[in-house]
Amino acid sequence: MINLTLLGATGSIGQSTLAVVDLHPEQFQVFAISANTNWQDMVKLCAKYKPKYAVMADENAATQLSAQLQNDTTVLSGASALEMIAEHVQTDYVMAAIVGSAGMASSLAAAKAGKRIMLANKESLVLAGDIFMQAVKDNNAELIPVDSEHSAIFQCLQGGTSGLSKIQLTASGGPFLHTPLDELDTITPEQACAHPNWSMGRKISVDSATMMNKGLEVIEAHYLFNLPHNQIDVVMHPQSIIHSSVYFNDGSTLSQLGNPDMRTVISYAMSYPQRIDSGVEALDLTQNSPLEFYVPDFEKFACLRLAFDALKQGGSAMGTINAANEVAVAGFLDNKIKFLDIAKIIEKTLTQSAHHFPTTLAQVIDNDQSSRAIANEIMLSYA
Ligand SMILES: NC(=O)c1ccc[n+]([C@@H]2O[C@H](COP(=O)([O-])OP(=O)(O)OC[C@H]3O[C@@H](n4cnc5c(N)ncnc54)[C@H](OP(=O)(O)O)[C@@H]3O)[C@@H](O)[C@H]2O)c1
Repeated sequence: MINLTLLGATGSIGQSTLAVVDLHPEQFQVFAISANTNWQDMVKLCAKYKPKYAVMADENAATQLSAQLQNDTTVLSGASALEMIAEHVQTDYVMAAIVGSAGMASSLAAAKAGKRIMLANKESLVLAGDIFMQAVKDNNAELIPVDSEHSAIFQCLQGGTSGLSKIQLTASGGPFLHTPLDELDTITPEQACAHPNWSMGRKISVDSATMMNKGLEVIEAHYLFNLPHNQIDVVMHPQSIIHSSVYFNDGSTLSQLGNPDMRTVISYAMSYPQRIDSGVEALDLTQNSPLEFYVPDFEKFACLRLAFDALKQGGSAMGTINAANEVAVAGFLDNKIKFLDIAKIIEKTLTQSAHHFPTTLAQVIDNDQSSRAIANEIMLSYA
């Protein structure tokens, strides 16, 4: 029986993970779960899965949860408790599915404890990629990507990297692939969150609409597959059927295809190197033709260009764009700024932030906080 610790249990990835667990109760057991404030859903999850630990990042939410529980689950709160369940000796696999930089420390704790980390929290790599990858290496942790593109590349590289010339991440283009640039200024958070293919949390949905999500994935791919920016390519593919491709110097291209459903990616991470039923319907190519591909428009999707810029700069630049993006997306979701302001705020923050090469988590966090402060200041002039 494999003990799972599920960081971000109430989120979209958390729910899909539990759906896979439900299909394989003989193989997986939920050892610990976490959320931020949503104690109401945690009450239901504790009743159903009876985990040993339930952690709320928010202290008040932990008090509420504790008051509602009638089983033996231990309720804890705060960042140190998240790290504790990630590195716990009884934890076998950690699903790192907290959204944003709040997920970084617990993912790192899992890496330091040598766990299998099923990594959905891309911020762990975007902010602290060098530190994180070193911890994985030093502690023989197992890192399995939980992002459809990186899982696709990971699957395509199972035969090795001999002759690898480039990897190519596919991008759906989100809801505004065919929307002209001048019409993007008036769109609402609801429109931005209505992704045509994937059902996701609100923050990542906006990131998909701006293509910052793809930009962060480019950075993630750089670390996961140890490739420079000029061996990482992006192609627009609105159907989200080809999840990514790998190109070799003999003219071969390998791609992984499937219906767009994160349960495939999650079940692969849970069962690797085997495969198990994920509950996802088999792909029927005849129902999805034609498959379309376009070159990305770096002017319209300025966030994608900014992510490549940050990757080229390296070091703190990647954490800076991530912090600025989190601030700007929250501002957009709160109706404080317009959709196109997101990229403008990120670009200005990148220009105004000091550039350095962090070697400790404290420096990463420092950069994250100072970048947020700068981004918040800049955002005032757009509000
Ligand atoms: N959704 C996808 O299809 C997808 C695909 C690939 C990668 N990812 C990545 O996976 C991660 C999770 O995405 P998601 O779509 O599942 O997000 P989501 O639906 O917004 O869920 C986020 C989870 O994190 C918890 N959380 C939020 N803020 C927290 C904090 N400060 N401290 C501790 N926990 C916190 C939430 O708890 P509450 O419910 O209490 O707020 C929730 O359980 C992100 O990094 C995203 O980029 C997602």
